[in-house]
Amino acid sequence: MARNPQLNSHGGLRHLLSIEGLPREIVVAILDTAEPFTEVAEREVKKLPLLRGKSVFNLFFENSTRTRTTFEIAAKRLSADVINLNVSTSSTAKGETLLDTVDNLVAMQADMFVVRHASSGAPYLIAQHLEATRRPNVHVVNAGDGRHAHPTQGLLDMYTIRHYKRDFTQLTVAVVGDILHSRVARSQIHALTTLGVPEVRAIAPKTLLPSEVERLGVRVFHDMREGLRGVDVVMMLRLQNERMTGSLLPSPQEYFKFFGLTEDKLALAKPDAIVLHPGPMNRGVEIDSAVADGGQAVILPQVTFGIAVRMAVMSMLAHG
Ligand code: CP
Repeated sequence: MARNPQLNSHGGLRHLLSIEGLPREIVVAILDTAEPFTEVAEREVKKLPLLRGKSVFNLFFENSTRTRTTFEIAAKRLSADVINLNVSTSSTAKGETLLDTVDNLVAMQADMFVVRHASSGAPYLIAQHLEATRRPNVHVVNAGDGRHAHPTQGLLDMYTIRHYKRDFTQLTVAVVGDILHSRVARSQIHALTTLGVPEVRAIAPKTLLPSEVERLGVRVFHDMREGLRGVDVVMMLRLQNERMTGSLLPSPQEYFKFFGLTEDKLALAKPDAIVLHPGPMNRGVEIDSAVADGGQAVILPQVTFGIAVRMAVMSMLAHG
């Protein structure tokens, strides 16, 4: 496998596995490629032929509402055939390995795998296997692996920020909440630093921060009010209870009191600050309904932009 498994020998996108290690020009190219797709959607042109004749397999070994559905919509808008493997009724439930499943789907002429898996690294494993079995025309998109990465979420968040704020190099951005267990947070932080955001703040209790998080290029705050002061963008995260072991928090109520985004805490940010959340939201735990449904929230536009960004990623993969 090449040194950067995400790139082909010409420096084009081969797989999308993580934003970490992705050159800035590729990140910008994805955002730029997504722009006309958003406009196409607004003009209600439903289908483009860019993936005509291609088969996209959605392999979701974990639950999803937004990611799976928007990948399906995006692939269909590009005229691909989309197959959603029902993991609970597939032969993985009988003990078939992930790579045997992949080999069988490749034998069915799969062109692209969109993979969500509880194990960090599962999409890398598939990409390596495709390389080893000489399948250069089959691509992998990571749709979230363990607590490692969720690159298309990070990209659609960047698209949303650019849509509302234009210039990354003038921004202060806060990422707030359960950073320790969040693949979204890692992808967001790598994307923000790659795009030249001068100040990325990580706001969380000590128990929900990875050790040496500063090495990612963030400034750490344990006091949410202090951390939100003067920011342009607030990126909220869900408490990932399903990945927590042991008691990391006193209670959801206590967490909401100190790290829940309420209108009074948001008032410390710039008056035109925007609020993002990748979903699913836990109202009353990390975000108050008054903020989630308020005028500064761009949470539903994020979902819509996700279609255009996923169209961009898939068309760039298919066309090198
Ligand atoms: N943001 C996100 O990944 O949502 P889903 O789990 O619904 O796909």
